[in-house]
Amino acid sequence: MKIINIHLPQKTYDIVIGNSITEEVSAFIDTRKYSKAFYLIDQAVYRLHESKLREMIGDSPYKCIVSGETYKTLKTLESILDKMVKSHLDRHSVLVAIGGGVVGDIGGLAASLFMRGIGLIQIPTTLLSQVDSSVGGKTAINLGHIKNIVGTFYQPDGVFIDTVFLETLPQQEILSGLGEMVKYGFILDYHFFEMLRDRFDDLISLEESVIIESISRSIAFKTKVVSEDEKESSIRKILNFGHTVGHGVELQSAFQGSHGQAVAIGMAVEGGIAYHRGYISDTYFKSILSICHRIAFFPDYSDEEIRDMICVMRHDKKNTSGQMTMVLPKSEGKVIIVNDIQEEEIYIGFRSIKDDN
Ligand SMILES: NC(=O)c1ccc[n+]([C@@H]2O[C@H](COP(=O)([O-])OP(=O)(O)OC[C@H]3O[C@@H](n4cnc5c(N)ncnc54)[C@H](O)[C@@H]3O)[C@@H](O)[C@H]2O)c1
Ligand SMILES: [Zn+2]
Repeated sequence: MKIINIHLPQKTYDIVIGNSITEEVSAFIDTRKYSKAFYLIDQAVYRLHESKLREMIGDSPYKCIVSGETYKTLKTLESILDKMVKSHLDRHSVLVAIGGGVVGDIGGLAASLFMRGIGLIQIPTTLLSQVDSSVGGKTAINLGHIKNIVGTFYQPDGVFIDTVFLETLPQQEILSGLGEMVKYGFILDYHFFEMLRDRFDDLISLEESVIIESISRSIAFKTKVVSEDEKESSIRKILNFGHTVGHGVELQSAFQGSHGQAVAIGMAVEGGIAYHRGYISDTYFKSILSICHRIAFFPDYSDEEIRDMICVMRHDKKNTSGQMTMVLPKSEGKVIIVNDIQEEEIYIGFRSIKDDN
């Protein structure tokens, strides 16, 4: 078991990482002396891990929600708040969110709003939420088609990362988490990328020591960036490597994969742009391409499909005055933020990832 201490100006808490650590959660809740615990659980996770979760919940109130982007809505939020009122929670209660990023984001929002803020414990159950969304304190729901447009910054009292949940996770979701983990290597630490590349098969098969070590290091990377820039004004933007193109890919109807797989395609395309600009060597670009190919299947996009994706990218909230912003690799383990991306470069980026197929 590993423990990472998070020190923020307004709060200090621990992230505990291990295998089969539900007892630790119960012990933590007992010592905190909350007036009541309320469990918000991903329905699929509840079904797959029922006996273990029933033991943790005991006779506390709980609510299961269906996850997936289409349920990350005001309506779901309202139904959760309604259940919290009916469960007679007070301001000394805690909400325990058990599920992937959707449950974590919406549960965090509910905890931050109920009585102007109650306790929050995150138990992320997807690899993506374990290495990314449960760290940083962002909560959100979607409104209409606009993703994460309503939300708060709200830090948990504790985060418990239990790798036992990963055993039931579909491989596509494991690859999704790996996409974000590889990203940390490219933006911050090339040796971490090399480790992930060399132990890729062990990671896919969830070899315990390597997965716990890789999750811990990923969290340490995200924590470092977030603590330097809690409200996302500057350095936190580097976490968007692969995401500008990735968002276009996600919204393209031919794409059937997970978020981190879209990010992998995005990192490959953005790597291609950096290579074309002369920022990175041929060898480095090839190493980006090769791991991204292991994470995601790259559809063969037509020029028309690329044009549609560029349309999506143009509306990215990170763009300033008509120019397109992108995070590009600059050297091994380092990136830069550029604001002058031309459309033609995106076509070039997409063409350059085709060559390797
Ligand atoms: N707050 C942040 O900083 C932040 C960062 C990144 C992503 N996000 C958000 O996270 C969400 C994506 O998170 P996600 O990829 O975890 O998606 P998700 O929560 O939709 O989970 C993916 C799927 O896996 C299932 N699942 C979850 N745990 C499982 C388990 N242990 N076994 C089997 N199935 C399981 C879920 O039911 C769901 O079908 C998006 O809404 C995104 O906006 C937030
Ligand atoms: Zn992401």
